[in-house]
Amino acid sequence: MATMISSSSTVNLPMTVKTNSFSTSPSSSINSKHILPSQLPCTPTNHGLSLRYDGNPLRCRHRRSPQSTNSANFQVLASATVEPLKIMISGAPASGKGTQCELIKEKYGLVHIAAGDLLRAEIAAGSENGKRAKEHMEKGQLVPDEIVVTMVKERLSQPDSQENGWLLDGYPRSLSQATALKKYGFQPDLFILLEVPEDTLVERVVGRRLDPVTGKIYHVKYSPPETDEIAARLTKRFDDTEEKVKLRLKTHHHNVEAVLSLYEDVTVEVNGSVNKEDVFAQIDVALTNLLEQRKSALGSLAA
Ligand code: AP5
Repeated sequence: MATMISSSSTVNLPMTVKTNSFSTSPSSSINSKHILPSQLPCTPTNHGLSLRYDGNPLRCRHRRSPQSTNSANFQVLASATVEPLKIMISGAPASGKGTQCELIKEKYGLVHIAAGDLLRAEIAAGSENGKRAKEHMEKGQLVPDEIVVTMVKERLSQPDSQENGWLLDGYPRSLSQATALKKYGFQPDLFILLEVPEDTLVERVVGRRLDPVTGKIYHVKYSPPETDEIAARLTKRFDDTEEKVKLRLKTHHHNVEAVLSLYEDVTVEVNGSVNKEDVFAQIDVALTNLLEQRKSALGSLAA
């Protein structure tokens, strides 16, 4: 009897992402880290077939799980689908995470889950968690794990995130948050790290404005509103002052290394100090490569 991978099957594949070939702007640069096949997990499919890296970067070895050893043949259908992307984006306060997420979401259709937005929604709803969260946010501190971890985990578990893929913004921010996520089985395919010098960050925070109607992010100098009507309704975040951003930066520096160490193998560093289109172009290359790798690996699996 043949073991079949149906048209709805997905396969997790090892891949190599090389993003340093980006060249749309001379001012843009990307300090890429290669994502090596050996550094990514090989996850068995629910049909007992997985790919395993065998030391040769150009070759993957098919491995059958113990449950499938009685099957004489494998048949893999060419119409198998590519698994949705799971992406994390990280960086200091105002490094441009939210701005890039707007662009990534528009092109790749991922579900954008921003820890800060979830917390601000709790504050706006006047919940007990919201009240507690605000006390910490006003001091530029991390909100305690018992509030944040469950909130993010529940959002990641919802059907839209599972079906379309997710884009996690501003989480995890500590080792304990990263460990909790791993325990629940949420691991990223790619960890995007936006690099921006500190003096630029302060200027970005102080000039940031938000449109309460569309949720769009503006900046008085770098991304001004399109019309007077929009300009008139823009708001400022309560923690967007020079004094508070310095506290937020301190918290960021205190935690960032521990988080990075967990995702080193799938991290791509992006120069976030250029204009937003050029930042996105770098990210776009990394995501396109990732999808291409998956598609071609699926194709060779089906061949
Ligand atoms: P959060 O809301 O996540 O804030 P943050 O990390 O400080 O990041 P920001 O939202 O300020 O900036 P961003 O990187 O999204 O930049 P943006 O695109 O808006 O968190 C707030 C607080 O909530 C935390 O301090 C903490 O207390 C709590 N919290 C959140 N997550 C938590 C967690 N996991 N655990 C515990 N507590 C948590 O851009 C900024 C400005 O720059 C905009 O005006 C934009 O137009 C402009 N801009 C963007 N890109 C460019 C560019 N390339 N060139 C010029 N201008 C640009």
